[in-house]
Amino acid sequence: MSDKQPELPNRQTPFSEAFKEFIQADWEPYSTELPSRMPAAEAAVARREAVSTIFPGDRVVVPAGGFKVRSNDTDHRYRPHSAFAHLTGLGTDREPDAVLVLEPTDTPDGPSGGHTATLYFKPRAPRSDREFYADPRYGEMWVGQRESLEEMEALTGLHCAPIDELDEALAKNADATTIRLLRDTDQTVDETVDKIRAEHNLTDTAEIDADVTVRLSELRLIKDAFEIEQMREACDQTAEGFAAVVADLPEAVRRGRGERWVEGIFGLHARHVGNAVGYDTIAASGDHANTLHWIRNDGEITDGDLLLLDAGVELDTLYTADITRTLPVSGRFSEAQRKVYEAVLEAQEAGIAACQPGAKFSDVHDAAIAVIARHLHEWGILPVTPEVSLDKATGGHHRRWMVHGTSHHLGIDVHDCAQARSEHYREGELAEGMVITVEPGIYFKATDQLVPDELRGIGVRIEDDILITADGHENLSAALPRTPDDVEAWMAPLLEG
Ligand code: GLY
Ligand code: MN
Ligand code: MN
Repeated sequence: MSDKQPELPNRQTPFSEAFKEFIQADWEPYSTELPSRMPAAEAAVARREAVSTIFPGDRVVVPAGGFKVRSNDTDHRYRPHSAFAHLTGLGTDREPDAVLVLEPTDTPDGPSGGHTATLYFKPRAPRSDREFYADPRYGEMWVGQRESLEEMEALTGLHCAPIDELDEALAKNADATTIRLLRDTDQTVDETVDKIRAEHNLTDTAEIDADVTVRLSELRLIKDAFEIEQMREACDQTAEGFAAVVADLPEAVRRGRGERWVEGIFGLHARHVGNAVGYDTIAASGDHANTLHWIRNDGEITDGDLLLLDAGVELDTLYTADITRTLPVSGRFSEAQRKVYEAVLEAQEAGIAACQPGAKFSDVHDAAIAVIARHLHEWGILPVTPEVSLDKATGGHHRRWMVHGTSHHLGIDVHDCAQARSEHYREGELAEGMVITVEPGIYFKATDQLVPDELRGIGVRIEDDILITADGHENLSAALPRTPDDVEAWMAPLLEG
């Protein structure tokens, strides 16, 4: 199921019969008390019903995916595919190699509205099994106690079955049932489905599978009440993480290689309160802020510079925030820094104001970028008028200083719903329940000869997470100050400790 790991014959440990007898004896029995239902599981019921409505009569197969090798026999920390997490409620560390199957029911009134859902997974083996002591990926001695079938059913509310029964379930009635597979998530499942299809001379299935990827991605465009609460919590926790970073800024300056220190402080907080960071933290001081995906974070943090911190806490449910603040390391903006910062803030305010149900997704970018082009022109940097620059066909000059988009959807993935069709995303409309970022920036590289000396090396981005409401929007990350005065006032007591 997982990435193939190389066989390492020199690492195979022989176990004597005496050891095998000895290792399985004299353990307390597993508790018979079942775990309580995960809060995330309840909301997943309606999401599975939505899938059922999209694909009536078809078998929908959603693998979680397996472990991914980091190097040799060491795996990355496990994370399920986002569509699997969305449809099961399983988050942190669960469940490697599991597969959710929505099987069409004969009656339209089946338990999940036209489909029955089964979670196929690898339940924990009894202690008499070699897995217990000899399997570094699944064994209790190695990775801790995993769920039994009954425990997983209690956690998820799903009917569960051993993964060994998956192939038979996939092959059942295959000549009369369309299999819709979330492809490229689990190579073994892909191969099994391909084999079944080949046996039934089913060809031209690429589009069927591609459609699953698209539709499951689009299903996440509108967040339900549980998801909105999770996003709120992720933003609140991220704000706490930013405060922890500010409180430790003097230490980051003192130690040297301060960007790494900042990354570590935020990561510590994220790992402590949630699953991890939702993406690699960008801790970019000085000119590094002008490298959009600066994740090396190996630079100094120096008094007098700005620190661009783009970071998000991912909760155990895998929902993440994505927030950027550009902070004066000393606690006070210089005049030049403030000038750039205020222009970006004005652009962001314009973008946020455009966040209305019924507005176009692209309105947000257009509103923000118009402000940026105007300021660049006023400062004598833009070589053409804002009108010329903003003309998409012939202009675009302003993009030299902000080459990225202003918004993306946010949720379980930091760039959520990325496979959604353009008409529902880039060319679509905003609707109640969507969560998007608004993150304009201005980036003046130190080497940019078109930029006046006093502005070179200044990079500013301000990023907030905006929920579209019935009558407007709500800034989920409003706990973090944005105006220069508010930022300074917020930083002062934190820096003083
Ligand atoms: N941190 C990634 C982004 O802002 O899109
Ligand atoms: Mn973002
Ligand atoms: Mn970001």
